Amino acid sequence: MKLPIFAANWKMNHGPTDARAFMKSFLAHYPRQHDRKVLFFPNALSVTTVADAVRERPDLEVGVQNVHFEDKGAFTGENSAPMARDAGATHVLVGHSERRHVFGESDEAAGRKVQAALRAGLTPVLCVGELLAEREAGDTEAVVLRQLRAGIAGLDAQQVAGMLFAYEPVWAIGTGRTATPGDANTVHQAIRAALREAIGERAMGVPILYGGSVSRSNAPQLLAEEEVDGVLVGGASLDADGWNAIVRA
Ligand code: 13P
Repeated sequence: MKLPIFAANWKMNHGPTDARAFMKSFLAHYPRQHDRKVLFFPNALSVTTVADAVRERPDLEVGVQNVHFEDKGAFTGENSAPMARDAGATHVLVGHSERRHVFGESDEAAGRKVQAALRAGLTPVLCVGELLAEREAGDTEAVVLRQLRAGIAGLDAQQVAGMLFAYEPVWAIGTGRTATPGDANTVHQAIRAALREAIGERAMGVPILYGGSVSRSNAPQLLAEEEVDGVLVGGASLDADGWNAIVRA
């Protein structure tokens, strides 16, 4: 059985001081749970703060929101996968819609970042999702599967089986507009089918998270869907009490 996964993407919020205060408050009210996993994706400057806070808690892990695909070199302003690992990260978001659409990251770059993450021993969380215009044109599945296939190109079955995936429709991110649980499940089924095509039955054990305006009120219905194995939460993960309510869903 897959444990449900609750992932907080803090985006460009909570520097080390806020992150420390958040973790202190969250940990005080959230004792260890054995039936779910909670992941935190703080900004890179707060990773060590969060990693230190969760050191005694195997049910809680920390990741970075992005890495460069090279391990080191003259790339001012970037962070690499080995550095993220050194700072205490176990996971990395790759191809988040803001990376793709605000920073112009290509499908191919996302694929290289997945490989860099795996080289460093980090678990990549490959994010895929369509724009509103693409959904309205009936291209949701084509876009999502194109991103997915580029993200796992060149990997072997064992590597893909160890990854996480997140479906985040771009029109649902930060807009208060969530995909219906049924719509989310339909896209998750398409992702599962593509993974099955790529790696066979092992695809059944790969977690697929949903993200996009997830809140404490809609999280339970989304998680009740057969193919929704967890949630990736932005805005509603920024407040320690609110996040506690979601992870107890
Ligand atoms: P919101 O939950 O703020 O819509 O953000 C979703 C997201 O992008 C998580 O990665």
